[in-house]
Amino acid sequence: MSLLTLRSLDISFRSTNGSIKVVSDLNLEIEEAEVFGLVGESGCGKTLTALSIMGILPQNAFAEGEIIFKGNNLLTLDRESMRKLRGKELSMIFQEPATSLNPVLTVGYQVAEVLTTHMGISKKEAINTTIELLKAVKIPSPEIRIKEYPHQLSGGMKQRVMIAMSIACKPSLLIADEPTTALDVTIQAQILELLQRLREDMKMAVLLITHDLGIIAENAQRVGIMYAGRLMELADVSELFNNPRHPYTIGLLESLPEEKGTPLKPIPGFVPEPDRLPPGCKFSDRCRFAIPQCKEKEPELIPLSIASNNSNHSSLITHHSSLHFVRCIRASEKLWHF
Ligand SMILES: Nc1ncnc2c1ncn2[C@@H]1O[C@H](COP(=O)(O)OP(=O)(O)OP(=O)(O)O)[C@@H](O)[C@H]1O
Ligand SMILES: [Mg+2]
Repeated sequence: MSLLTLRSLDISFRSTNGSIKVVSDLNLEIEEAEVFGLVGESGCGKTLTALSIMGILPQNAFAEGEIIFKGNNLLTLDRESMRKLRGKELSMIFQEPATSLNPVLTVGYQVAEVLTTHMGISKKEAINTTIELLKAVKIPSPEIRIKEYPHQLSGGMKQRVMIAMSIACKPSLLIADEPTTALDVTIQAQILELLQRLREDMKMAVLLITHDLGIIAENAQRVGIMYAGRLMELADVSELFNNPRHPYTIGLLESLPEEKGTPLKPIPGFVPEPDRLPPGCKFSDRCRFAIPQCKEKEPELIPLSIASNNSNHSSLITHHSSLHFVRCIRASEKLWHF
């Protein structure tokens, strides 16, 4: 059984002219102890997906469908049970570490508070565990650091504190939303390595959110490519890199820096606003492989084997972890070659 299953997940915002859907029909499974990468350009709905799993969507947003975590649908769970899960079983490292720590409390207090709230241990025990946790995330002199305030720490150190907080209760699932975007390249590598090591030690699953396929190549086992609130492709990481089938994935791969001096090929155009999506395939207006049918009907996300056989697929909604899924009517054509 998978640890987390998203089934037909939609996320919408209420607006004066009705609701606007920003995430549509998201289906995916995350297995225990795996790193699942969620990739896409800015605005495609990655953070909202994470917030919906955590049960902390903004006031004006709502989720429909199912978010099954350890057998419970989180969308129907009462507030108190959800609050208990959050921080303990499910935790999240946010996109902006600087704004996620409370500036008026010491970092030691903030980590210890997670422990006293969720683990029912004494303050003294919590402080000792906090020191251990800060050591585990490689913060030097943790005994001194626990008495410091966030502004006294560098960006990389703040992110380590955030990681310490998020793993304090040994969650089964850690959501890391662009955990290294705000950091410089060397610190980025250190933080990713730290996350990998902790994941192996603690056997936790990680939902790694990033716009950078390079990070996915080195850190994830499976990956979902998101565009305009939809999953466009879903595959094992090596399969995705060796045999990409969605033109959007191909575009992302082409825009990766290969060697120094190779010119980058960014995907032309912009991600459309959620209320101005084109009819048919949502990527069709930026797609160099688009044909007239692409604008008529939105393709479903189906297994590549079925796309290639052109057979009937309507009964296939469930996802198998080792399969390759694509949402493109030209998926069988292998549009891209090395
Ligand atoms: N509070 C809000 N009210 C209305 N629309 C919102 C709100 N928050 C996000 N959105 C819209 O929802 C869409 C998805 O946003 P989300 O933050 O999930 O994107 P993202 O993939 O995390 O992007 P980024 O890479 O920039 O973090 C965007 O089009 C965004 O404009
Ligand atoms: Mg985001």
